[in-house]
Amino acid sequence: MKTVDLRSDTVTKPTPEMRKAMYEAEVGDDVMREDPTVRRLEEMAAERMGKEDAMLVPSGTMGNLSSLLTHCGRGDEVILGDKAHIFNHEQKGASALGGVVYNPIPNQPDGTLRLEDIEDAIQPDDIHVARSRLLALENTQNFCGGVVLTPKYIRAASNVAKSHGLSVHMDGARIFNAAVALGIEPSELAAPVDSVMFCISKGLAAPIGSLVVGTKAFIEEARRIRKVLGGGMRQAGVIAAAGIVALNTMVDRLAEDHRRARALAEGIDAIPGLEVDLKTVQTNIVVFRLTKPGLTPDRLVRMLAEKGVLLFAIGKDTLRAVTHYEISDEDIDYALSVFRELMAD
Ligand SMILES: Cc1ncc(COP(=O)(O)O)c(C=O)c1O
Repeated sequence: MKTVDLRSDTVTKPTPEMRKAMYEAEVGDDVMREDPTVRRLEEMAAERMGKEDAMLVPSGTMGNLSSLLTHCGRGDEVILGDKAHIFNHEQKGASALGGVVYNPIPNQPDGTLRLEDIEDAIQPDDIHVARSRLLALENTQNFCGGVVLTPKYIRAASNVAKSHGLSVHMDGARIFNAAVALGIEPSELAAPVDSVMFCISKGLAAPIGSLVVGTKAFIEEARRIRKVLGGGMRQAGVIAAAGIVALNTMVDRLAEDHRRARALAEGIDAIPGLEVDLKTVQTNIVVFRLTKPGLTPDRLVRMLAEKGVLLFAIGKDTLRAVTHYEISDEDIDYALSVFRELMAD
């Protein structure tokens, strides 16, 4: 049976060029800073984001966690969106492991946090309240449908935070999707913020890894945090080699994933019982609603899986499909034909 795996762009397997680069990678002990391939990837990452330095970590979760723990001490507060991955899908690790307090404010449908809400959430300098230390943004905003935050918005939000002495972190797991969608360099998105985490293991198709970028001093401190979290890796050049290929070969083609996500979204929206807010389909993620009475997202997911179309239910009436480089135009046509068949019953 044909399988069309739209669960996530994390399912992408390394390309043949990545596997070759991994096989041939020159390696050393990266905890001792002796792995030339890791260093090369970190230099590339810092350069692409316009920051001084970068650090390779095994996952986006560890990248966000080490960033939050570098920005914030015990009792310090991070302001972030209530739909943020950091808030909902990372076990609130900075709280569990570092005593950091989360202060969630509503994500608007376009992924932004209202500037007034940010301003209101910032605590006064008062002995009775936690100290607001950090604003965390997410770009693209996964659970708002992969929507893009623009440089103009990021600058405005960042200015609010900075005028009160807060730092700004960006969960840029899919920052390259945002940059490609806007037709700009990711450094323009990173410029107004202090630190960015981005993933090479999602749409860029490397098997493992994320990078944290920031100032030299920030990354030096983050390396200490990474070590205590168990993220000091030895011959990590094997991973970094695939990341270098990812940055060199997999960025521009993200536009194809965006085009296919659009085609999928328009096809889904035309089916009675399914609804997509097409404004939110800006990159490779399609979040859509099931409105057919008597059918739940979980049941629809099971019915689709029986026909080889895989995706996730993400709410009581919502589902999510993600396109990536292993999804072709034919796969989109097939997925839509299965949707039409199941929804007609
Ligand atoms: C927006 C966002 N941030 C962070 C992560 C965490 O990345 P990882 O799964 O590599 O820990 C994800 C994972 O899907 C994500 O979508």
